[in-house]
Amino acid sequence: MQPSWIAPSILSADFARLGEEVRAVHEAGADLIHFDVMDNHYVPNLTVGPVVCEALHRHEPEALIDVHLMIAPVDRIVPDFAQAGATYISFHPEATEHIDRTIHLIREHGCRPGLVFNPATPLSFLDYTLEELDMVLIMSVNPGFGGQRFIRYALDKIAATRQRIDALGKPIRLEVDGGVKVENIAEIARAGADTFVAGSAIFESGDYRSTIGAMRRQIERSERRP
Ligand code: DX5
Ligand code: ZN
Repeated sequence: MQPSWIAPSILSADFARLGEEVRAVHEAGADLIHFDVMDNHYVPNLTVGPVVCEALHRHEPEALIDVHLMIAPVDRIVPDFAQAGATYISFHPEATEHIDRTIHLIREHGCRPGLVFNPATPLSFLDYTLEELDMVLIMSVNPGFGGQRFIRYALDKIAATRQRIDALGKPIRLEVDGGVKVENIAEIARAGADTFVAGSAIFESGDYRSTIGAMRRQIERSERRP
């Protein structure tokens, strides 16, 4: 397994102070900045796009940006996010006509491709794609909003995905997104995730550093007691 990464989702940040918020979580130990892009079409909410991504990348260039596209179609906007400084770009298979083409488009633009699975989306989309990916993202809520409750059957999907990644033997990140808290992160780590998105749990806590630290301690504890 690769080292565990914590990825605060800016969806729960104070949007009036977004640059400061990104700097604050980066300085508090965040490994990735999770950047949720919503279009009021693929999901019933509307957030931010490449212009904001670029501004944040300029403001905090050392922070790696993990773009989670909840938009349809996908391909037109991929070069814009690459230009805007994205490191990972993940998309939902239902949102694009040609999954393989979108994966390669992301890589051709110098970014790391990820495929995202909604709670009810089958893992069979990995059958022909897994070795082309740098990340698999398992949604543990239905996409569109922060602050929802963790859907427990996502744990089985995480475990099944971990088996597929280990069988392949490539360093593909296994990320989980939705309802991740200090209280449940150990259980999620035990299921096999190595990259943890947390929006409300971090940004609604008073102290980003201590919350990220508490998450890391929980993950370490789960590694000692399998
Ligand atoms: C939901 C987003 C998540 C969201 C997670 O559609 O993809 O990244 O911000 O928020 P929490 O951690 O509050 O569930
Ligand atoms: Zn997300």
